[in-house]
Amino acid sequence: MSGKLEGKVAFITGAARGQGRAHAVKLAQEGADIIANDLAGGIPLVPYDSSSMADLEETVRLVEGLGRRIIFRQGDTRDLEGMKALVDEGVAEFGRLDIVVANAGICIPATWEETTPEMFSTTMDINVVGVWNTVKASASHLIAAGGGSIILISSYAGKKMQPFMIHYTASKHAVTGMTRGFAAELGKHNIRVNSIHPGAVNTPMGSGAMIEAITRTNASNPALAAMGTPFLPTYAAEAQDIANAVAFLASDDARLITAEHLSIDAGAQYF
Ligand SMILES: NC(=O)c1ccc[n+]([C@@H]2O[C@H](COP(=O)([O-])OP(=O)(O)OC[C@H]3O[C@@H](n4cnc5c(N)ncnc54)[C@H](O)[C@@H]3O)[C@@H](O)[C@H]2O)c1
Repeated sequence: MSGKLEGKVAFITGAARGQGRAHAVKLAQEGADIIANDLAGGIPLVPYDSSSMADLEETVRLVEGLGRRIIFRQGDTRDLEGMKALVDEGVAEFGRLDIVVANAGICIPATWEETTPEMFSTTMDINVVGVWNTVKASASHLIAAGGGSIILISSYAGKKMQPFMIHYTASKHAVTGMTRGFAAELGKHNIRVNSIHPGAVNTPMGSGAMIEAITRTNASNPALAAMGTPFLPTYAAEAQDIANAVAFLASDDARLITAEHLSIDAGAQYF
């Protein structure tokens, strides 16, 4: 059975687990080969469990199980040279690059008083510089292919502020702005650039002490805690819901959609 992305190649960051894995599997189901990275290791400061090499290997197994090819390396989106080396290796192997999904990101709940300079700068380094590096390392390959689709994973917090996450909100709003800027400059190369803004998603980002950290910060100002309540009965999306939107934006079904900011939040941004 042929999919919407037959013959295409996609580069995905943070693909060991959670949404990144769902994107790799969905794009592979639609026919794409995958180039991917993940830290697959500890991230200081975050309250949830870190991903592992076993997670990374599971993504490889799932993609290969679909009959698609995958090059997956442990690496850090903050390392521009490392990212370039990976993308160049992938393009040398698979012959082209058509789709980029800048998914890797972190989230550290903290009130404004608790937030340390290290929390702020680490969040900006991964969520903003890492996304910029992802596009910087790959855009020339999309130009060489005659066009493509770049999808930047922002958040509900990239449209509306998320309480007790000033650093995260700042980083995800930066991703929204970066989407518009790259869309403007890369448009002449037939490259579309869009962002996706999930509300809550069921992933390992909610593991470990994450819920405890959110509950604790919410208790500091309960009036703000109700913000972002979805209109629909389903509170949290599954990673698959986000992957479906990624596959749509990556495909020709979205051929005239660029500089757009697509929410998958059950209406939460308007509450
Ligand atoms: N889960 C949610 O509720 C939610 C909501 C809105 C937006 N998001 C965003 O969606 C994206 C994916 O989140 P998720 O829920 O799948 O989280 P996750 O923690 O389950 O997965 C993120 C993956 O990114 C990797 N990663 C983190 N920093 C990296 C780096 N510097 N280099 C390479 N890999 C790195 C992690 O190792 C992990 O495997 C993130 O950008 C996140 O901010 C998540």
